[in-house]
Amino acid sequence: MPSDSLTITDNRTGKTYEAPIENGTIPAMALRQIKVAPDDFGIMSYDPAYMNTASCKSRITFINGEKGILNYRGYPIEQLAEKSDYLETAYLILNGELPNKEQHDKWADAIIHRTMIHEDAKDLISVFRYDAHPMGILLSTVGAFSTFYPESKQIHDPEVREVQIERLIAKIPTLAAFAYRHSMGLPYVYPDYELSYTANFLQMMFKKGERTYKVHPVLERVMDVLFILHADHEQNCSTSTMRAVGSSEADPYCAAAAAIGALYGPLHGGANEMVLRMLREIGKVENIPGYIQRVKAGDFRLMGFGHRVYKNYDPRARILRELAPEVFEVTGTNPMLDIAIELERIALEDDYFVSRNLYPNVDFYSGIIYQALGFPVAMFPVLFAIPRTAGWLAQWLEMLQDSDQRIARPRQVYIGYDERDYVSIGKRD
Ligand code: ACO
Repeated sequence: MPSDSLTITDNRTGKTYEAPIENGTIPAMALRQIKVAPDDFGIMSYDPAYMNTASCKSRITFINGEKGILNYRGYPIEQLAEKSDYLETAYLILNGELPNKEQHDKWADAIIHRTMIHEDAKDLISVFRYDAHPMGILLSTVGAFSTFYPESKQIHDPEVREVQIERLIAKIPTLAAFAYRHSMGLPYVYPDYELSYTANFLQMMFKKGERTYKVHPVLERVMDVLFILHADHEQNCSTSTMRAVGSSEADPYCAAAAAIGALYGPLHGGANEMVLRMLREIGKVENIPGYIQRVKAGDFRLMGFGHRVYKNYDPRARILRELAPEVFEVTGTNPMLDIAIELERIALEDDYFVSRNLYPNVDFYSGIIYQALGFPVAMFPVLFAIPRTAGWLAQWLEMLQDSDQRIARPRQVYIGYDERDYVSIGKRD
């Protein structure tokens, strides 16, 4: 009998079964052998919301939620945030290794030269209503790219895949900036090939009448850090969506559009917008204790607190908390920061939050920084989607190359009706 195995006794029949243990998991299919009769389907595991189910093996991102550790391809997030830039981190996430100088320059050049979008895509953005949410515009235009680049359906061709990856990473900031400018009634600003990925994005967003828009180096760096922190986070809701849609062999634009839809929800990418609304509602430091009482009474949740995986301080929140004063030195102070710091202090001392392991997550501070940089709240989930594109694509690539994977198709426990005969309408009660 192998020692790395689980012995299961079925008390219905008294029979015992073996399931191998590998990487701390048992294959769910090993449960299928457990039957009460030969024609029985066999046992399944029931796991709504995937609370304890690994859906893939991955080499991309490691999280230890108990200790508050986050690594991309083995590199601690703190080191990447301090020393890398977004494009280099995206390369690492996609390829598994940091690029050498030649690889870096080739990659950065390929990306910046693909930032321009087709004029028809620009026209598509123009027909959205003036008050359309930029996340809805982003989702639609990324999905529409499926029709602009029909060759993207050749998902088993590595060269075709590479081009789509470069395209999507390059064009998503342009789509995002155009979506914003459309909602503001501002003319679109085209990409500038001379600028870095993040500086180009900031000029597409904020350039007005200036001949050349000067991006403050501190703010350019802050954007890089924010993008690095959001580049991947293993099998969360949007990434699982990317993998699930991609598993049907849909092209990457369709899969990424679906992932953007998942990210749009307030419990995922919409949370930092909710944090800012919450801080505004609190209004001043004196109102915090009363607000916390209402959270504890179950009236609503403290937005930006708690995480499915982190049961400790989210390492990304720690980096942003330290970065915030640097940003405010350039942009001017924001009273929201004082409320956030005090709210965090009180919550971290309160037994309700301590006993439930509820700590600030990345969204707790990102919203305040985005606001200081001049982004309206509606852009917050978009600012999450731009860098997460690298993670989605890396996970999609990994899924396509994993021989264990099939089309994603969960099972269900049917608790519905017994089979019955159709009754014509006149004979129904
Ligand atoms: N405020 C108050 N109580 C909370 C909070 C919160 N933010 N989060 C969880 N709890 C409580 C729950 O009420 C529950 O209490 P109970 O045991 O008395 O019923 C307990 O903590 C466990 O909560 P679950 O909902 O089971 O935790 P889950 O892992 O399913 O949820 C989630 C994680 C969705 C992130 C949750 O903490 C939440 O809603 N947070 C606020 C929204 C938010 O900040 N989302 C951003 C997540 S990070 C990201 O997407 C990048």
